[in-house]
Amino acid sequence: MNWNSDLINSLTWSADIINIERKQKVADEIATKVKDGDILGVGSGSTSYLALLAIAKKVNEEKLNIKAIPTSIEISLMCSKLGIPLTTLYEHRPDWLFDGADEVDPDKSLIKGRGGAMFKEKLMISSSPVNYILVDESKIVKKLGTNFPVPIEVFPQALLHVEKELRRIGATGLMLRPAKGKDGPVITENGNLILDARFDEIDKGMEQKIKSITGVIESGLFINYNIEVLIA
Ligand code: 5RP
Repeated sequence: MNWNSDLINSLTWSADIINIERKQKVADEIATKVKDGDILGVGSGSTSYLALLAIAKKVNEEKLNIKAIPTSIEISLMCSKLGIPLTTLYEHRPDWLFDGADEVDPDKSLIKGRGGAMFKEKLMISSSPVNYILVDESKIVKKLGTNFPVPIEVFPQALLHVEKELRRIGATGLMLRPAKGKDGPVITENGNLILDARFDEIDKGMEQKIKSITGVIESGLFINYNIEVLIA
């Protein structure tokens, strides 16, 4: 017997969705790629949410069997609401994934992590052979760092060490991301903090430089990943 939960049934996206018409266009496009039996890696953020709604509609209409591997609690809950069965990276490798991004540069390198889910998002992209990044035109930049800082997930006790090392490799501005809906900083799904870092220059080695700092769990820099970008 399934649960019947008002909490799950009444779930919706938690904020206004900026550029919703364009995001809806790429969401509908990605839904056309879903086939019976697919194991989907599901990214986080509002574009992924809209894509999930479009996919659920297609799955219901065409009676497809798919499974989803979510990258965040909000996406797991949304899959439950939509009746999309969940699985994990223990049991399955995704056939392909879709996800959003905050910035995409001409080399298809990305900044992600406005939603704080970059660790699982990077794990998913590293586990999946085919990766679609869904963006509206506002996400296209000439240079990474134009509109968004680089989010960095940090083990809490390492905060001051990571701060010192980030300044050493060129961070010009650092902010401990504040929570909304609770006092104090954001605590990630992995129990860590998020530093939002500004750099004047983000070179090709920056992702590795950040990752090599002890106490950094992951950053939202995705440089030279195997992705196809769908732009609306
Ligand atoms: C979450 C992400 C999102 O994919 C990114 O922030 C884009 O979000 P949206 O689709 O809401 O514009 O990386 O961690």
